Amino acid sequence: MDGHGLVRSVKTVGMVGPGQGLRAVRSAWRRRRLDAAALASRGAERARVPGAVTSVEPGPGGGVVRFARSELRVSVTGGGAVFWGWDGAGPEPSYALVGGCPEPDPRALLEPDKDGGWRVVSERVTVVISRHGAVEVRTPGGVVLRRDLPPRWWEPVGGGTARWSQRTEVAADARFFGLGGRACGPRLPDGTYRLWNTDPGGSFGPGDDPLSITMPVQLVVADGGTHLVFHDNPWDGTVTLREGEEGAGSGHDRAGGCELRMEGGPLRCWVVVGTPARVLQAWTALTGAPAVPPSWALGAQHARWGFGDEREVRRVVAGYRERGLALDALHLDIDHYDAHQVFTVDGERFAELPKLADELGQDGVRLVSIVDPAVKCEPGNAVYDSGSAVDAFVRDARGRLVRGVVWAGESVFPDFTSPEVRVWWGGLYAERLEQGFAGFWHDMNEPVSFAAFGDASLPRSARHALEGRGGDHREAHNVYGLCMARAGYEGLRALRPDERPFLFSRAGWVGMQRYGGTWSGDVATGWPGLRASLSLVLGLGLCGVPYSGPDVGGFDGSPSPELYLRWFQLGAYLPLFRTHAALRAGRREPWEFGPEVVEHARVALDERRRLHPYLVTLSHLAQRTGAPYVRPVWWFAPEDRALRDCGDAFLLGDALLVAPVLEHGADRRAVRLPRGRWYDTVTGQAYEGPGQVLLDAPLSRIPVLARAGSVVPVRGGGGELELEVWAPARGRTGGGLVVREGGDGWERPGIERYTTRWERGRVVVEREDEGGPVRIEGAVRVRGA
Ligand code: GLC
Repeated sequence: MDGHGLVRSVKTVGMVGPGQGLRAVRSAWRRRRLDAAALASRGAERARVPGAVTSVEPGPGGGVVRFARSELRVSVTGGGAVFWGWDGAGPEPSYALVGGCPEPDPRALLEPDKDGGWRVVSERVTVVISRHGAVEVRTPGGVVLRRDLPPRWWEPVGGGTARWSQRTEVAADARFFGLGGRACGPRLPDGTYRLWNTDPGGSFGPGDDPLSITMPVQLVVADGGTHLVFHDNPWDGTVTLREGEEGAGSGHDRAGGCELRMEGGPLRCWVVVGTPARVLQAWTALTGAPAVPPSWALGAQHARWGFGDEREVRRVVAGYRERGLALDALHLDIDHYDAHQVFTVDGERFAELPKLADELGQDGVRLVSIVDPAVKCEPGNAVYDSGSAVDAFVRDARGRLVRGVVWAGESVFPDFTSPEVRVWWGGLYAERLEQGFAGFWHDMNEPVSFAAFGDASLPRSARHALEGRGGDHREAHNVYGLCMARAGYEGLRALRPDERPFLFSRAGWVGMQRYGGTWSGDVATGWPGLRASLSLVLGLGLCGVPYSGPDVGGFDGSPSPELYLRWFQLGAYLPLFRTHAALRAGRREPWEFGPEVVEHARVALDERRRLHPYLVTLSHLAQRTGAPYVRPVWWFAPEDRALRDCGDAFLLGDALLVAPVLEHGADRRAVRLPRGRWYDTVTGQAYEGPGQVLLDAPLSRIPVLARAGSVVPVRGGGGELELEVWAPARGRTGGGLVVREGGDGWERPGIERYTTRWERGRVVVEREDEGGPVRIEGAVRVRGA
């Protein structure tokens, strides 16, 4: 075991206690034995490269280029996304795509290129294939965005899964983002990132990798253009990134580079080129629109592991109410289960859960339940029995149940890659709904099985249905959480057809946004953890998962009042705003940190509530356009290199720029502004971008700026929707979109478009209706004029 693995194991045993520790040792041995018996060690391998072009076959959107030892299928789709697959790989089957492969672009033609190569020219992108199988993606203007060198495969001589690697060159100024949820971003530093969903065990900081959501998705931003690349392959692998260097005008730039190495699975990829907004829109069309959370899930939420009993839950909720602090949801962790068993309730400590849920509901507080995938392996446990009856649990290569260890002890694991198992599992949420829960928090679904050494997950040889194709855990691991989310989401839709499910999941993969959101997992309490939590939200948003947020205050230990407050102030501007902490961690209720923190937390909560209509708007726009609520500051100006490197601030929608305090002791901070005029939303002071300004950040607030000309829907004093309009600079215009809350069902409220401009010394706001512009007089508050 490497040093890192040892630290993780010690942390894990520390979390689960000595009894579980012993089981974790046994389980780790068992996993090792199973894999040794079922997966032959690789032995001798033969390397292969494509060789030279031998023939081509034009087809819709591109065609097939044959090489001496492989073939490449290329297709440009109508939406502008480019697909290519080696060795005959097509876009399907895929866990990422929604609605199958998009139609090819009939105008995209495969034609000869120089030096014996071929190219596909389309309106938005040109793909050039060299004689030996390098693939270049160029903008219509001819700028090279990426050059994938000919891939290399290693095939076991005795047959079996081929490993492969693919090296890529990008521009010297290119910056990498994405790869799922990474703690060290948002701009990903040089290094190797693993593609294997992993519970870090204990808690994690910026140096820990991988975490629960890994995705072979990169957003690459360079002067020449922005593109997203996705290798549709859920197997284990690594991505090594190296930024380039510019030779300061010497003409000797060193290109940036990326190397992807995969342990198996197809070599196929998608590339989408365009502005960030266009890229995310096309990405969403490919992989699915983000679920819109019910509007209460855009409010303030509070959780902890170990509330203990109903009395304590009531005490905490009353604490919020007595102090006039907003609270919209409260989350119950595994301690409300009967002996940690999923879909059960401890009848003594939570004797009347439906009544509690009802009471809290009348007070405007929804209950959310944790749901773990592992099922205690014990006849008599109703979930185990009903799952056994439908053969729901993962088996080993010899057909025996795979047993692991999680909170409840020896456990088995539903195979969510089977459609029948998903239906069975989805039905189990009926019990949760009867208990009064309104939302669901999927956890431990990397999946985790505690292990004293090695990988804390299932054996790699464990068998999975994989939608009937059959395969093992090497292929199923990274999509396990995604398929569990699908099971929960579809189950809830069937059980409560009139309500949008609220579900967020620790692990997942490309496409998880279709079923809900995610959260940071167990981010370490400390200033580095605070920074990591912003990195995760930004990176996930760029991978198409817009709804997420951290454990405010950090998962473990006890934050100082200052750290807690700064985390709270950041969290108030993130899509999922939830305080949470571990069993033995300190408290996370605002009043536990003294009267000053309560006052400042109240300001953050009130502002969150005031911005609720804006968050609702952003949730609908995310669904329709793929634009994440929280975006890097370079979103509208990826060509601005200083912005590209800025990871300590973000845009919330089009209108707001939020600059959280991420350092101890700071009461001012530098904020890098994109082009245009920006107003400090508290002082009203105007600043001109691009450039850097120094702003006050007293303990009472973090700097938030509004873009001149923007229209922000807010909640007025009486609860009605009001438009907060930030004056455009003189001679300029502005505008904004508003989507009004339409309940928690499936209605699709319309998009209202507003424009702002100056007219005779006044700022005028108009709504663009079908019959023409309508001037808006009431319920508008103009600021900055
Ligand atoms: C995992 C989760 C955490 C939860 C704990 C107990 O560590 O990430 O949020 O509190 O399990 O269920």
